[in-house]
Amino acid sequence: MSSVTDNDDAAPAGNASPGTGQPPVIRVLTLFPEMVRAVLATSIPGRAERQGQVRYEVTDIRDFAVDKHRTVDDTAYGGGAGMIMMAPPVVEAVEKVREREDATVILTTPQGEKFSEELTLDLLADLQAKGELILVCGRYKGIDERARELVVTREVSIGDYVLSGGELPALVVVDAIVRRLPGVLHDEDSAANDSFTADREGGLDCAWYTKPPVYRGLGVPEVLMSGHHANIETWRRQQAVERTQERRPDLAPAIENAGSREGPAEGGGRVPRHDRNRRTR
Ligand SMILES: C[S@@+](CC[C@H](N)C(=O)[O-])C[C@H]1O[C@@H](n2cnc3c(N)ncnc32)[C@H](O)[C@@H]1O
Repeated sequence: MSSVTDNDDAAPAGNASPGTGQPPVIRVLTLFPEMVRAVLATSIPGRAERQGQVRYEVTDIRDFAVDKHRTVDDTAYGGGAGMIMMAPPVVEAVEKVREREDATVILTTPQGEKFSEELTLDLLADLQAKGELILVCGRYKGIDERARELVVTREVSIGDYVLSGGELPALVVVDAIVRRLPGVLHDEDSAANDSFTADREGGLDCAWYTKPPVYRGLGVPEVLMSGHHANIETWRRQQAVERTQERRPDLAPAIENAGSREGPAEGGGRVPRHDRNRRTR
């Protein structure tokens, strides 16, 4: 097991855990530790560890194999195609790395509760309260049911499709949580109004533009160039509502009245579909 980044530029930990004064730790148990380490050392998750906002410990489940061949999988009782991850290495790995008896141990599985904004915030609160979160990555046809019964406390799916292993789902979960730790993003407001947040009433984010002002004949909505902050905010709110209604009508009931709370934005307002990217030739 090891941390994934050199912690040379660690700042005083703003996310210190109650009791220990240490940054919270996320432990990932996997048969492919290098795959997990590479991602956790990169971009925002990597910077979060280097700044001392979080620690990662990646454990190779194979180190807990009980035979000299380091076997971690075997055929299924009752027959059938595919191998099953054996219970002893998984259970013993969790028991070895877990610091708290009540630590949440997440198994990534397509059969788990669907990952979401709500679950992200729930797991973030759990990490902050306990200072520890553990993720177990399955492989093959999954883990022996007894390992699930003995050490798993929560099961998470990232969607209704089947991947070859739990590493990508675990990394999805870790990234979503870590970017919400206070101080990890340079501008926290940017996460506050992303899609699915309370700021967006659970709906989608609006469209965003940056330089150049005209690209391949496509302009930028006038209101965004006006410098009128209230109108810009109104335009963005309306645009987010409109997008949600168009693309995700299942989310629309929650935001039905959100766009009409303020009047139409002067010089911008609701952008008609045909006019959204004004062509300037
Ligand atoms: C090939 S899958 C096993 C699928 C399992 N037999 C089933 O049908 O439910 C191998 C591993 O990948 C991970 N996995 C695959 N798809 C996933 C998903 N949508 N969400 C979370 N984990 C997933 C799990 O850890 C799983 O144990």
